[in-house]
Amino acid sequence: MRKHKKIAILTAGGDCPGLNAAIRGVGKTAIVKYGMEVIGISSGFLGLLDKEYFPLEEKRLSGLLTEGGTILGTSREKPFSTSKRHNIDKPNRIKETYNELGLDCLVCIGGNGTQKTAALLVNEGLNIIGIPKTIDNDVWGTDQTFGFDSALGICTDAIDRLHSTANSHKRIMVIEIMGHRAGWLALYSGLAGGGDVILIPELDYNIEVVNNYLLKRVKKKKPYSIVVVAEGISKPYADQSAASYLAEQIELGTGIETRKTILGYIQRGGSPSSMDRILATRFGAYAVDLIANEDYGKMVIKKGEKIKDINLSEVGSKLRLVPEDHKLITTARGLDICFGG
Ligand code: F6P
Repeated sequence: MRKHKKIAILTAGGDCPGLNAAIRGVGKTAIVKYGMEVIGISSGFLGLLDKEYFPLEEKRLSGLLTEGGTILGTSREKPFSTSKRHNIDKPNRIKETYNELGLDCLVCIGGNGTQKTAALLVNEGLNIIGIPKTIDNDVWGTDQTFGFDSALGICTDAIDRLHSTANSHKRIMVIEIMGHRAGWLALYSGLAGGGDVILIPELDYNIEVVNNYLLKRVKKKKPYSIVVVAEGISKPYADQSAASYLAEQIELGTGIETRKTILGYIQRGGSPSSMDRILATRFGAYAVDLIANEDYGKMVIKKGEKIKDINLSEVGSKLRLVPEDHKLITTARGLDICFGG
């Protein structure tokens, strides 16, 4: 009988800085602290369907802490959806691969969709531990996901750089930040970067309110304005980006020359921040402690300064959105930052 545990790790959903730090945190703790055997699954849940995996020895985990992306690769494969790419019973194929590998646990590093799949795999009888990641910071149950802090730094730097060019040309600059349903990144970077208007999906906005606010700034002799907008705000045309729509409406409504910047995937690329390296490492190490205690079916979370866990079944399809009365919003309103309402 095998004495040591055998575990596998996968990364699923959109990538973000800190994934490799988390893989390293899981892998090194598993190997060094507990003598476990570690397998890397390629391309998220696709790797379990296609049986693509490889051993993760300790040597392979060195030098990963600072690297962006994920050495495992990722995909948006959702094995419980009805997509026809594989003409197979996907949950059964995953169970088959899990059993063939003789796994004691599968660690799923991902965002909301991944944690939902992880919970469904628990229902299928597999031992699963979830680790939350995403630049959107919208995984329910945790105060923070890794990836957010790195993206925040990138967005803030980009907004900082818009100020001088906006000032030179006396323009309005609209910058679009990622976040389809949650506006955490736009809210935080908007505040950190000195945005004058911040629009997020959680708060209804009125374009006339925005335009009147921008015109009022001109009257107050403010030479330029910065509008920070989350990509997921409501707008009439689905095929137009939030930045394009707003820049058009603002120029039309104010008569002030307006330019747009869409930051895009730059927000997800490159080396993780120090805080993300630490959070990903703590999440990874805690996940393996749960496995060692055979405390399965959990997602690792951060609550205050503590790393804890909750049942994956609690997370389900819930999203962590910005509440209307969030402290940062009330603080920002006090500084005359406009939220469009
Ligand atoms: O990872 C989250 C996220 O960055 C969202 O903010 C964004 O809308 C989405 O991923 C886009 O990712 P992709 O094009 O890879 O699906």
